[in-house]
Amino acid sequence: MIIVIIGAQWGDEGKGKVVDLLADRFDIVSRYQGGHNAGHSVYVGDKAFVLRLLPSGIIHEGKICVLGNGMVIDPKAFFEEVDQMAAQGIEITPERLKVSSRAHLIMPYHRALDHTSEERLGNEKIGTTLRGIGPAYEDKAGRRGIRVSDALVPELLKSRIERNLAEANRVIVLYGREPLRSDEIYEEISALAERLRPFVCETSHFLSEAKKVNKKILLEGAQATLLDVDHGTYPYVTSSNPTAGGAAVGAGIPPHHITGVLGIVRTYATRVGEGPFPTEMLEDEEPVAQLIRERGNEFGSVTKRPRRCGWFDAVATRYAAELNGFNSMALTKIDVLDTLDEIKVCVGYEINGERIDTFPAVSLDLRQIKPVYETLPGWKSETLGITELADLPANARKYVDFLSESVDVEIGLISTGPERDQTIILRDSVMEGWFK
Ligand code: GDP
Ligand code: IMO
Ligand code: MG
Repeated sequence: MIIVIIGAQWGDEGKGKVVDLLADRFDIVSRYQGGHNAGHSVYVGDKAFVLRLLPSGIIHEGKICVLGNGMVIDPKAFFEEVDQMAAQGIEITPERLKVSSRAHLIMPYHRALDHTSEERLGNEKIGTTLRGIGPAYEDKAGRRGIRVSDALVPELLKSRIERNLAEANRVIVLYGREPLRSDEIYEEISALAERLRPFVCETSHFLSEAKKVNKKILLEGAQATLLDVDHGTYPYVTSSNPTAGGAAVGAGIPPHHITGVLGIVRTYATRVGEGPFPTEMLEDEEPVAQLIRERGNEFGSVTKRPRRCGWFDAVATRYAAELNGFNSMALTKIDVLDTLDEIKVCVGYEINGERIDTFPAVSLDLRQIKPVYETLPGWKSETLGITELADLPANARKYVDFLSESVDVEIGLISTGPERDQTIILRDSVMEGWFK
């Protein structure tokens, strides 16, 4: 069985919590795209973990984790995270963690180029995490990238760094920054590559063999559907394909081996960085946004930036469901809305007075959208930690049913708090079947 977990909105839906919860029933957890731009928070008892590059399954001893070929890996950030986990009592050995030989490396000049690119864009900047993600994927598509396997061959690594840095430095200097030195980069990366060597694996073959002996595999998406480079709110997106199709490419598995796709949706929406956000709470709704930001702790787990907050957007989520083929959805953070009198849900879009049925391709159009809202009554009582559907207040159940109907996908899990056991699993849902 292979299940993909995908963010349905603009990220930070609670993928980490759900993956951690489900990892128990799986043998292998693999990431397939992105890098340490992700921040997946997991709480276990009094311990808090923030996973960036490592799959959230790593917290479970005995589970094998994979960094797939579709990822971009900063080797320094990789070992910082491995060391951080060790400090938190999670030992990571090559037996438990496999890194694709075909994944691309994020180099120090990619980080510098992420800065210059954002500076160049000025008012039109993307608001990236400045981790070098975009420039590393640019080199991959431009066929200049340095893969994990290349870094293990010293002469190759050296010549690629020299060639690529000569180009990168031209831009870096143009923007008034100090040029980087190839000998320093080579020394740093070759030492890290040697440390990485025992983890390197033909991960696609590894996953294929695991499937043959009926191992259960969870594919953990990072970022989200509306940040997908093809399907998201381009150009305000990340540079990879978090959507379900990307999982097959980025983990190196045949698409028909995927058994099911689970969408992670929040009861409201957030966005970090720039870009259109039709249901954003602005001006007179800013107090609601502030309340949600505080109750939901909506600050970036990597960059600590306050997340922009907005109402649930059923049009955008329906688009996500269509693109990914969600078989089921996990709805997170219902407890954050406990104190609201009324809750709005966007059920349609209008541009210049005309109703539109599809999610616009052009960011400018998205900015002009007037959301059509339905207002539902709040439940004004505490849902934190509820584990049975029957214990949810009636209006909370109505809200859940309304979201499910407006996206036209079942909700198989409701998360009522950040902890593992603060969860309702819906009986007889498709999702329950996967996790028995
Ligand atoms: P991810 O990037 O999708 O893994 O999400 P993040 O970890 O960046 O952000 C989600 C945040 O919400 C984390 O701090 C989670 O611990 C927290 N969280 C997840 N589910 C719930 C929930 O049901 N209720 C509350 N209050 N917090 C939650
Ligand atoms: P998780 O996995 C939310 C956003 C950035 C920026 C855009 C491009 O925790 O949900 P990048 O550095 O990727 O080139 O930035 O994408 N972004 C995220 N927003 N959650 C994430 O990951 C994100 N990863 C990138 O804020 O707008
Ligand atoms: Mg996150």
